[in-house]
Amino acid sequence: MHIDFSKIEARLKEPPASGAEVSAILDKALCAKGIALDEASALLSALPEHTAQILQTAATVKEKIFGRRIVLFAPLYLSNYCSNACLYCGFRSGNRELERTRLSIGETVTEARALVAMGFKRVLLVTGEDPLFGLEQIISAVRAIYKNTGMRIVHVNTAPMGVDEFKELKKAGVGVYQSFQETYHKDTYAKMHPHGRKKDFDWRLGVMDRALTAGFGDVGIGPLFGLAQWRFDCLSAIAHSMSLYAQFGAHAHTISVPRLRTADNAIAPPMLVTDNDIKKIVAVLRLAVPTAGVVISTREPAQLRQELINCGASQMSAGSRTNPGGYTARSRATLEQFPTTDHRTLPEVMASIVKEGGLPSLCTSCYRVGRVGSEFTEKTSAGEMEKLCHSNAILTLKEYITDYSKNGVREHLEQALKKAIDEIKDPAIKKATLEKLREIENGKRDIFF
Ligand code: 5AD
Repeated sequence: MHIDFSKIEARLKEPPASGAEVSAILDKALCAKGIALDEASALLSALPEHTAQILQTAATVKEKIFGRRIVLFAPLYLSNYCSNACLYCGFRSGNRELERTRLSIGETVTEARALVAMGFKRVLLVTGEDPLFGLEQIISAVRAIYKNTGMRIVHVNTAPMGVDEFKELKKAGVGVYQSFQETYHKDTYAKMHPHGRKKDFDWRLGVMDRALTAGFGDVGIGPLFGLAQWRFDCLSAIAHSMSLYAQFGAHAHTISVPRLRTADNAIAPPMLVTDNDIKKIVAVLRLAVPTAGVVISTREPAQLRQELINCGASQMSAGSRTNPGGYTARSRATLEQFPTTDHRTLPEVMASIVKEGGLPSLCTSCYRVGRVGSEFTEKTSAGEMEKLCHSNAILTLKEYITDYSKNGVREHLEQALKKAIDEIKDPAIKKATLEKLREIENGKRDIFF
């Protein structure tokens, strides 16, 4: 992985773009084919008077590529032991006050079942860098979840591995491999990660090259905003995705925008990133890498998450716990990686997405039919996915309403479902969707295009 960081720094020193320049870039961005790195830089540095126009364009591009859909998922923490020393993280090895635990297979299954019982269909497994909870344990957890819980897709966020290990992980049926660079700013990275394997900036930066080489089609990247200058990290993440595209034909499948929260016995964010900055980050990521899922976690407050729905975001976690065992009896705040801010439940988040004009989706189809990597990037970019994804969102929403939703939320979701069905333009797809909806009413589950 080669990113020219000095060029990125130099770009960010350029004077703010004029109104005419910003408009020209946004006109180009509206085609939903992405923009160049220097154009993304110009948008990030644009004067505040242009922000509304940038956010609006991002919302339009989001809709063009992903429709009104917001995909939902939950993280599941497997182990909070960690051999690294990331200054900002509750799991860091030096935090003697943190209670540590590793979930057994039985406990993992119980946690995943708890998420399935809430209506989740996709889960993101998270672990610290724990020598006693390595590849073998992660693979056993993935397999046990598929075998015993009804969870439809398992993604993983774990410490970087080598190509051979990634091959094994892929064989277990993992969907997306996710790992965050934390910061692309080398000096800051060195300060924040003083010991442990994670100290090695280049090993982490090259992780997605190894994952893609090993056969992962879909990888998820992201800076941890609040460590270094946000414009630099945002632009570097875009450059990272562009570089993956140049080498593998696939952009980052997801780009997450976690913002640092002060964890127990850990440092506070060294750099300020305001809510408005996060909006701009989300919007520019959307415009620069239109096919990427832009992911908003529960680190962000509910109101801001609402607003980000219309700034280009396309995926959200809900009801998250950052402690192993957090969804079941072993829920203990003292085991947490960091405190979350949005504590709303899945149905509450779904209702709020509807309120913003979005369509909540629990779809897992792409990974399961092998629409991944370069094929996903190409088809999504060409607008070929849109029709099918819309119907898949409808089908999963129907399942959710039938199996999980309660009065109060149900009415909102039913209205959203009806509106979404009315929106299907292609008569053949409409007919097929209505047939599938009837099948769901008759008890069939997990049907998709
Ligand atoms: N606040 C927010 N996010 C954090 N992470 C680690 N510590 C914190 C914190 N205090 C993020 C890192 C890590 C991911 C799983 O969680 O980016 O890679």
